[in-house]
Amino acid sequence: MDRLLFVALVAFFVSSPAGAQQDSAAPGERNFRACAACHSLEPDRNMTGPSLANLWGRKAGSLPSFDRYSDALKASGIIWDDRSLDAWLTDPAHMVPDNEMPFEGIKDSRARADLLAFLKEATKPGAAPERTAENRMNGMGGMMGGMMGGGRAPNLKDLDPSQHVTGITHCRDTYRVTTADGNTRHFWERNLRLKTDSGQDGPQSGAPAIVPAGMMGDRADVIFAAPEEISKSIEPRC
Ligand code: HEC
Repeated sequence: MDRLLFVALVAFFVSSPAGAQQDSAAPGERNFRACAACHSLEPDRNMTGPSLANLWGRKAGSLPSFDRYSDALKASGIIWDDRSLDAWLTDPAHMVPDNEMPFEGIKDSRARADLLAFLKEATKPGAAPERTAENRMNGMGGMMGGMMGGGRAPNLKDLDPSQHVTGITHCRDTYRVTTADGNTRHFWERNLRLKTDSGQDGPQSGAPAIVPAGMMGDRADVIFAAPEEISKSIEPRC
């Protein structure tokens, strides 16, 4: 994506009705945006942090599909309920020293109460996640999620031709990335990150995706279905 298109997209995002809609959300849902970059409300959709679906009554650190819990959280013995969640969101590091949630806490008790009221409903079994803050970002098209760093990661199984990487070459300090729409972009090698997503939102095997990263338009991520695809897909050629 060229720089102009990027700027246009940002302008669209800032001025679009979708942005206005977000602000009419209930306060608790709005507060959940502080969490949505790391937590989904859909069962077993894990990101930086575990899915929060069915949170009430769950033992801390116990979601079987999440592989990255700290020992501290797993050993805490906490059962999540109104009181324990209020303490956790006030000051996670105080409640569970050495936990690995990179979040400093919400000091405003009203904001915590609003957030917990929203979460209690939204994490109930069968609660429809479509209307939550995390997915509104997605309505902006998959690219915005990656660009703004918030909301649920875009699904990369069904790619727009401009996102579908068909070839990558490497020459000296430069990658050239060709996409299915026929465009080729070049990147300084330190500005292109090579990642994997083997999960349900990850790309199809053999169809890596390019997603803009950062705010300047000079960086991107290429996301592959599996680590072994990475070097196979990059051809050393000048
Ligand atoms: C930058 C990422 C990030 C943000 C932002 C974040 N979390 Fe977390 N969260 C994590 C990680 C990582 C863990 C696992 C911590 C550990 O194992 O020590 C976690 C754990 C949790 C847990 C425990 C879940 C369990 O299965 O035991 C809850 C509850 C939680 N977060 C709620 C929230 C809420 C609510 C917010 C927003 C106010 C939030 N988090 C913001 C990353 C984040």
